Amino acid sequence: MPFVRDCEVLAHQEVAADHYRITLAAPEIAKQARPGMFCMIEVGTGFYPFLRRPFSVERIHADGISFLYKVEGEGTRLLSRFRAGDTVNIQGPLGRPFPVEAGMRRYFLVAGGIGVAPFPALAEAIIAVGGTPEVLLAARTEHLLIGARDFSRMGCRVVLATDDGSCGMKGTAVDLLKQDLGTGEGSVVYACGPMAMLRAAHETCLAAGVVCWASLEAHMACGDGVCMRCVVPANRETEAERMARVCREGPVFDSRDINWTACP
Ligand SMILES: Cc1cc2nc3c(=O)[nH]c(=O)nc-3n(C[C@H](O)[C@H](O)[C@H](O)COP(=O)(O)OP(=O)(O)OC[C@H]3O[C@@H](n4cnc5c(N)ncnc54)[C@H](O)[C@@H]3O)c2cc1C
Ligand code: FES
Repeated sequence: MPFVRDCEVLAHQEVAADHYRITLAAPEIAKQARPGMFCMIEVGTGFYPFLRRPFSVERIHADGISFLYKVEGEGTRLLSRFRAGDTVNIQGPLGRPFPVEAGMRRYFLVAGGIGVAPFPALAEAIIAVGGTPEVLLAARTEHLLIGARDFSRMGCRVVLATDDGSCGMKGTAVDLLKQDLGTGEGSVVYACGPMAMLRAAHETCLAAGVVCWASLEAHMACGDGVCMRCVVPANRETEAERMARVCREGPVFDSRDINWTACP
């Protein structure tokens, strides 16, 4: 059962231009949160904006959680105004987490832009089962490669790419995956980023026979399975199951469950 809680802002920093990390005191939510799950955050005070906004859990601490977010529009702009000591209301944790199995030979974390947000918690979970995460991190340009140093400090292998070639390989996170995956034997891939990137990650993994866990984004209203605002086409037997709710059946899907040709 998700909680709805008023949480104190413990810290809130700008980590790159228009990108922020907010850390909240939320012990009950932290206890139930798993990497890949998300929370619906009330980004304003009062009734504006009316709908909460979804954000993946970035890190899970004993007494709280953090979120990493990019200012996209009005809601995230309002969220960026909260200061340490303020109170933010959140609902969560919601959705299905990334499955983490011990004993895989290689764990690839494929992140495009702000798609890196759920990966610090996932990297910690992989390390906890004895694995070494390999973080393939891409962004438009060097200063938007967020968290690279943190992943290195955790002991992850980190490989970088940028669209403009200002740091690392000139290309996308999936280009890095294609370069590194090899036969794919004993590997598992986790991907988060724009839809086009997820589709390319899915195709690469399918060709190599590797399971790809993709964290999808969709516009959400309720965040908890009721309104059907967040559906994506799925490869399911029955007509009734053919639209999957990102908030309830996801946001993490086995990429083979998604009907990518019918996705927008
Ligand atoms: C499960 C889930 C987890 C997410 N985790 C994170 C995260 O960890 N960090 C982060 O920065 N963002 C995350 N997002 C996206 C985030 O919710 C949106 O950027 C945010 O809701 C935008 O709100 P806004 O009011 O600022 O922008 P709006 O004014 O609502 O929209 C501004 C622009 O952003 C686009 N947009 C709005 N919502 C979404 C969305 N859900 N997906 C794609 N595009 C959108 C709009 O089409 C518009 O172009 C996540 C989304 C989902 C569904
Ligand atoms: S956001 Fe309402 S069902 Fe998913």
